[in-house]
This record gives sequence, structure tokens and C-alpha cells, in this order.
Amino acid sequence: MMDWDVMLTPYKQAVEELKIKLKGIRDQYQLSSKHTPIEFVTGRVKPVSSILEKAKRKNIPLNRLEHDMQDLAGVRVMCQFVGDIDTVVGLIKARTDFEIVEERDYIKHKKRSGYRSYHMILRYPVQTIEGEKQILVELQVRTLAMNFWATIEHSLQYKYSGEIPDEIEQRLVKAAEAAFQLDEEMSKIRGEVQEAQKIMTKKQEASRRKS
Ligand code: GTP
Ligand code: MG
Repeated sequence: MMDWDVMLTPYKQAVEELKIKLKGIRDQYQLSSKHTPIEFVTGRVKPVSSILEKAKRKNIPLNRLEHDMQDLAGVRVMCQFVGDIDTVVGLIKARTDFEIVEERDYIKHKKRSGYRSYHMILRYPVQTIEGEKQILVELQVRTLAMNFWATIEHSLQYKYSGEIPDEIEQRLVKAAEAAFQLDEEMSKIRGEVQEAQKIMTKKQEASRRKS
């Protein structure tokens, strides 16, 4: 019998720590009134039912889970602009509190489904009462548009148990193309958008000081 709580506790810790660290980056940008490359951060530990389903599907023995299932811990960073993704990846690479063991660029090389995101597998040290434990964490960096598409596509995969009908699949490929166009257009007016956001921040600060 597997004690899931014991096994997954360090994963939970890694997710919580990374969320705090990434939100810290966002807060630092906001304080310096620079455009923040991080819009928001989410994270999760894979639910046991999903672990078992994936282990079965990928023929991973339960005693190999910690080595072979790289997304037991998952953290996601959402960005406004495609260019922000490079900034976030740069910030991640400059850090000394974990190692990057793998990178997958599904933005330069989008998946057949239309999926786009930048993935990194981190080896993250967690301090436990038994000493340091290295944990694999999957970090996904994507724009809001990429996230919108991936969220919708994921719920359809779930609804159709991974067998989305052809017609819907084709529509999803088209929707991914539309999300890509949206990212492109937003990047082109990035300067305009950022100026507007700065003006809004200043206004909010001014009214806060008045009240
Ligand atoms: P899994 O896809 O997780 O079984 O493992 P893998 O080794 O094939 O890794 P891959 O890099 O393909 O995918 C890792 C994660 O990226 C997935 O768990 C999803 O969160 C996300 N992902 C990859 N492809 C897709 C996709 O087509 N649609 C959506 N919505 N998410 C995807
Ligand atoms: Mg996959």
C-alpha cells in the first residue's frame, strides 16, 4: 500500500514555495512600476486518481513515479505578452535555488493539437525533516490567450475522454490559430497597452492617496 499523503507532501511544499517565489517576482515589478512579465501564477499537485490513470496509460510502475512522472508537481505562469515569456524564462534561468533539467518549447514548435506553452522541468530541493529531497516540478509559461485555449481544450479532452470528434478538433486547431493571431496583435500594440496600464496605475495611486 502506498501512503500518498507522505509521498505527495514534499510536492505540495515545492508547489507552494514556487508560487510564493514567482508571486514575489510579480510584486517586485509592480512596486518598481515596471510592466510585470507575470500576470498570475497557479499550481497544483496531481490528484491521486490522475496519477493512477496516467501511470496505467504510460506503463509507469508505482515505484518509479517520482522519477518518471515529471508533473506530480505543476506550476503555471501566465503572461500578457508572448515577449514576457522570454523574460520569465530568463528570470528562471538566472535563479540559483533550483536546476532546470529539461526544456520544451511548444511555442516555436506548437503541438499538432494547436497547444502552445513553454515548459521547463525543474529539480527543486525541498527541506524535509529527513533532510533535503529533490523534487521534479513541471513549470509551464504561457500567455493569457494560450491559457484560454489550453483550458477549453483540456475540458473538451475530459468531456470526450481524450477522443474529441474530428470536427471539434479542427475547430480547436482554428481557435488555436486565432489565439496566436491575438497574441501577435497584442504584441504589436504592446507599447500602447503598457502606457495605458501605467496611466491606470498612477490614477489608482492618486485616488488611494486622496481617500
Ligand atoms: P503528458 O502529456 O502530461 O502525458 O506528458 P508528456 O510527457 O507527453 O508531456 P507534454 O510536454 O506533452 O505535456 C505536459 C503537459 O502539457 C500536459 O500535462 C498538459 O498540462 C500540457 N499539454 C501538453 N499538450 C497539451 C494539449 O494538447 N492540450 C492541453 N490542453 N494541454 C497540453
Ligand atoms: Mg503529452
